[in-house]
Amino acid sequence: MSTTSLWLETSPPIPTDAFEWDGRYDTIVVGGGLTGLATALMLARSGMRVLVLEARSVGAVTTGNTTGKVSLLQGTTLSSIRRHASEAVLCAYVDGNSAGQGWLLDFLEEQAVPYETRDAVTYATTLDGLDKLDAELAAARVAGLDAVEERTTELPFPVEGALTLGGQAQVHPLRVLAALAAEFRRLGGRIVEGERVTDVSAAKPAVVTSTSGTSRADQVVLATGTPILDRGLYFAKVEPTRSYVTAFRVPGDIPEAMYLSADAPTRSLRTATAADGSRLLLVGGNGHPAGRADSPAEKLADLTTWAERTFPGAERTHWWAAQDYRSANRIPFVGWLPRGRGRVYLATGYDKWGMTNAIASALSLTADLTGETLEWARVMHHRVTRPADIASGVAMNAGVGKAAVTEWASAQTAPEVGDEPVAEGTGTVGRRGRTPVAVSTVDGTTCALTAVCTHLGGVVRWNDAELSWDCPLHGSRFAPDGTVLEGPATQPLSPAPAARPAETGA
Ligand SMILES: Cc1cc2nc3c(=O)[nH]c(=O)nc-3n(C[C@H](O)[C@H](O)[C@H](O)COP(=O)(O)OP(=O)(O)OC[C@H]3O[C@@H](n4cnc5c(N)ncnc54)[C@H](O)[C@@H]3O)c2cc1C
Ligand code: FES
Repeated sequence: MSTTSLWLETSPPIPTDAFEWDGRYDTIVVGGGLTGLATALMLARSGMRVLVLEARSVGAVTTGNTTGKVSLLQGTTLSSIRRHASEAVLCAYVDGNSAGQGWLLDFLEEQAVPYETRDAVTYATTLDGLDKLDAELAAARVAGLDAVEERTTELPFPVEGALTLGGQAQVHPLRVLAALAAEFRRLGGRIVEGERVTDVSAAKPAVVTSTSGTSRADQVVLATGTPILDRGLYFAKVEPTRSYVTAFRVPGDIPEAMYLSADAPTRSLRTATAADGSRLLLVGGNGHPAGRADSPAEKLADLTTWAERTFPGAERTHWWAAQDYRSANRIPFVGWLPRGRGRVYLATGYDKWGMTNAIASALSLTADLTGETLEWARVMHHRVTRPADIASGVAMNAGVGKAAVTEWASAQTAPEVGDEPVAEGTGTVGRRGRTPVAVSTVDGTTCALTAVCTHLGGVVRWNDAELSWDCPLHGSRFAPDGTVLEGPATQPLSPAPAARPAETGA
């Protein structure tokens, strides 16, 4: 069974370029996910010389591990926005997402990249869920969407009700990225993989420092999921939520529409095509704040059990996990970064709806950088903080504060760890003196690292599903050898201090 996402497993080749030391560009885009590549292509089409620097490989992080629904009906997002923001902002959000969806599907048509048109359905299995559907229908109507109420669905269990929006789409996200990358490079753009950006000075021109050296540009776009620089403290204004996606071979008919539950725990369904051409059912859900689940493996097992019970005979072929970022009022942060002297831009906070929001961000950033005005972007990104957002932001940061205190306190009382290996596939946090130490054994290699996140000092926790060290504060994740996987950290975990020599007892 594969733990690589179906999309990364079946990705077309994506050619890239070599790093050019001290290269000079109009714009440098940091991050080769959907936001980065769409922004890079739009800027290249406007005539700019653009470089994309990607720390890992194109699509390696959230875009390569998404569910890939391109939908304007987004679970209960619209009613959530309506509770937190004005109706003008709600309408601007839907206009922006609609522009993003339209741009993406037009691009795929133009490049002959296949995608599938599907109904999007939000369904309720409880009366509380039904109330949420009523609120969602009202918000959808305010925003001008023709969602319709249904009493039944094709799902193999009863529902209290459902909302359907026709004419939405599902994509293979790596095929989308491959097409964006090819068109961008055809216009002279460069994509360099394996280049982790560690610093951006907002001088004129801006200087970007990455793995192989420096590059310069008039402006820099941080398309890194959560922003990597601490200016503006955006890492503290968004909450990372990690979720699981499983793929199943299912005997008999499988539901064809794209489903999302209004009730918790979230269940997200869509169909997909396996490498051998057979049909698979994807089942996603069981999200939690990144780095804060006691056992991610249990979350995954629970999701798998639900799918196996709901679709008898279902056989799991793949599973994977990913995280996305949510702002207090559910509206993404897009625009210039404070203290970036108008030369550094960011886009984050898509709350698991980035297939449309990433393209909307790319349109908005391109308009900013080429001096145009998009009315929906102006309304959406002119933020008014409401008391409810402050409360929600406080709750978010209370979770961060609690995690910080709890993990440091338990690390201080944890047992001293020496050089002995821990069991294969496990990791544990102990201490050497006062330093929290993370010890793991994966594939026979034992690593002992300082368990302190290089972003802002959270104590990392072992992820027993993905075999990684995850920070409960702002969602940085590290491989067993300490290499950065994702999140706002840019530096690896450092090696642990040497173990104290064992006492001889003489
Ligand atoms: C489980 C799950 C399911 C989802 N399903 C859907 C869905 O069905 N529909 C939908 O609309 N949205 C969905 N989303 C959301 C959507 O996938 C994301 O919002 C979107 O992919 C984010 O794209 P991005 O380009 O902003 O981020 P990413 O794809 O994460 O790209 C950021 C890139 O920046 C790179 N990077 C980071 N730091 C650095 C650095 N220092 N230097 C250089 N590069 C760096 C990373 O390596 C990464 O490749 C889902 C999200 C999750 C987690
Ligand atoms: S991600 Fe911020 S402290 Fe770890």
